[in-house]
Amino acid sequence: MPVILSCRELAKSYGTHSLFEDLSLGIEEGSRVGLIGPNGSGKSTLLRIFAGSEQPDEGERAVASGTRMVYLPQRDEFAQAEPEAVIVAALVESHPQWEDHQRDTHARAMLGRAGFGEGDGPAIDQTVDTLSGGWRKRLAITRALAQEPDLLLMDEPTNHLDLEGIWWLEALLSDARFTYVVVSHDRFFLERACDRVIELNRMYPGGHFAASGGYSTFLEKRAEFAANQKSRQESLDNRARREIEWLRSNPAAQMKKSRARIKDAGSLLSDLSALKSRNSAQDRRVDIDFSGTGRRTNDLVVVDGVGKKLGDRALFSGVEMTLSPGTRLGLLGLNGSGKTTFLKVLAGQLPPDVGRIKHATGLKVVIFDQKREQLDQKQTLRLALCPTGQTVVYRGRGIHIASWAKRFLFDPQQLDLEVGKLSGGEQARVLIANLVRRDA
Ligand SMILES: Nc1ncnc2c1ncn2[C@@H]1O[C@H](COP(=O)(O)OP(=O)(O)OP(=O)(O)O)[C@@H](O)[C@H]1O
Ligand SMILES: [Mg+2]
Repeated sequence: MPVILSCRELAKSYGTHSLFEDLSLGIEEGSRVGLIGPNGSGKSTLLRIFAGSEQPDEGERAVASGTRMVYLPQRDEFAQAEPEAVIVAALVESHPQWEDHQRDTHARAMLGRAGFGEGDGPAIDQTVDTLSGGWRKRLAITRALAQEPDLLLMDEPTNHLDLEGIWWLEALLSDARFTYVVVSHDRFFLERACDRVIELNRMYPGGHFAASGGYSTFLEKRAEFAANQKSRQESLDNRARREIEWLRSNPAAQMKKSRARIKDAGSLLSDLSALKSRNSAQDRRVDIDFSGTGRRTNDLVVVDGVGKKLGDRALFSGVEMTLSPGTRLGLLGLNGSGKTTFLKVLAGQLPPDVGRIKHATGLKVVIFDQKREQLDQKQTLRLALCPTGQTVVYRGRGIHIASWAKRFLFDPQQLDLEVGKLSGGEQARVLIANLVRRDA
């Protein structure tokens, strides 16, 4: 198969923080590539380099000539746009070769297939700013498809989609005649939608690991690879131990004849430490303590016959429940069914139409926001984590901002970055840090 996009020896770093170096790979025409990796590993950055909207520090990327490439960013661009009708938004970027009168018909048909104006779906003359997170995503995807891409680059398209939305996207991709690269953290989606998986991760030599096949095949091959790395580490460890003993026990080791062996031992040790640090890069995680303020009251929130309508559509009615300390309630529902609205009502930010919400006295409610609109994108990470920029007060104790940042897996060097430059997952970590700090 001819290659539709390739890159050679790419390197990219921000300051002293290197995302990848010496990254070479090719995307074959017709392939369905899943791009995975931990938060902040550089998936979005690599996709932007593929799309040509960002330049690598070193290396090259090449796209087969005549390729129509469409890039769907992690955060849809409607966020800042003027509120406009769904149909208008879909039309904006539709296929340039369509005639004006075809455009409207095409756009309507595509929106219909995406579920707009059908059943419970939003109407096409509804404005974009009133769409739920999942429907906005559907609109963004539809808009990308309207451009009839040969190569579609999608950054986390399944975020915010409900199960039906994910199935819709899967069906759409299974019929696709275009090549695509999709970033996702959804293992089931990856299994069904991809025939090749590439993981970006510093633990691999060359910064990535690729395998043909779905996600499960990828996991098998990765396990094999990891086992090999482990046994390689063990045998290097043994050799290193023998070399060190030899150096210690042999005064003649200083002699000229032995120089080569000493040098070899040196490079062996540095190989080993690189391998060890790659092998241990897998184990980073945040330990978060959500234990709250130790309140003893039993009923934190009592929901009594609560109902809410939007326009003439009833979102929910007759809701009865009690939240007590330690309750962990999962909320499921279709996109647009009113989950976010329900949370706002629960938090007392929106009044219910009927019924009552009773909060325990002194209750602090913190909402973790789907759209992350609470983060000021221009603010530095330092200020976003800590209003004074120096010391975070947590449970009555002062913690230096650098150690606080480390708890949430940030590198102290990132403190002066603008929040807007952080990856999606990193921004979510800022919100979690603030949630923890506010001691809900
Ligand atoms: N302009 C920039 N200046 C400095 N650092 C940046 C800039 N853009 C991105 N970064 C950093 O580069 C790293 C990779 O970001 P990227 O958005 O590519 O990650 P990602 O793999 O897509 O993560 P996620 O899964 O969270 O979306 C992050 O640590 C981010 O903070
Ligand atoms: Mg990303």
